[in-house]
Amino acid sequence: MALPQTITSELDALVTHYPDRRAALIPALHRCQEQLGGWLSPQTLEDLAAYFGLEPVEVFGVAFFYPMFRLRPRGRHLVSVCHNVSCSLRGAEQLLEHVCKVTGAPVGGTSPDGRFSVVRVECQGACANAPMLDLDGTFHEDLDPERAERILRSAP
Ligand code: FES
Repeated sequence: MALPQTITSELDALVTHYPDRRAALIPALHRCQEQLGGWLSPQTLEDLAAYFGLEPVEVFGVAFFYPMFRLRPRGRHLVSVCHNVSCSLRGAEQLLEHVCKVTGAPVGGTSPDGRFSVVRVECQGACANAPMLDLDGTFHEDLDPERAERILRSAP
């Protein structure tokens, strides 16, 4: 199998910005994740290895190392709950517990209806307004469980 032509065209342009093709691997992983359903399948990683002329283990190693790469399918909405110090001190664990209850998704997993995936994340730089969560790239801050529930229930 091979990467779709739309992606290889984009990668062909991307690699010209780097002195060494393999330096474009991380941005290429991001592009594939964005455009191929929000995660990186084993086949996609093998296709990327072929594209870059690398051993598959090299590409798998990079994808497994960085937490921003998802190696399993995820729900339609991604809920990222910060659990670092400021958020923890202001109720992040209770918030996370409530998020899991409302969405039906376990931490690090996806709800049975495929609607939500929930993950713990490190500090998002919104400590002054802790606790917070990120829903599909939008920060929601100064949360309590009830407010978080309203936000999650209003997600399409
Ligand atoms: S500790 Fe949660 S945003 Fe910084």
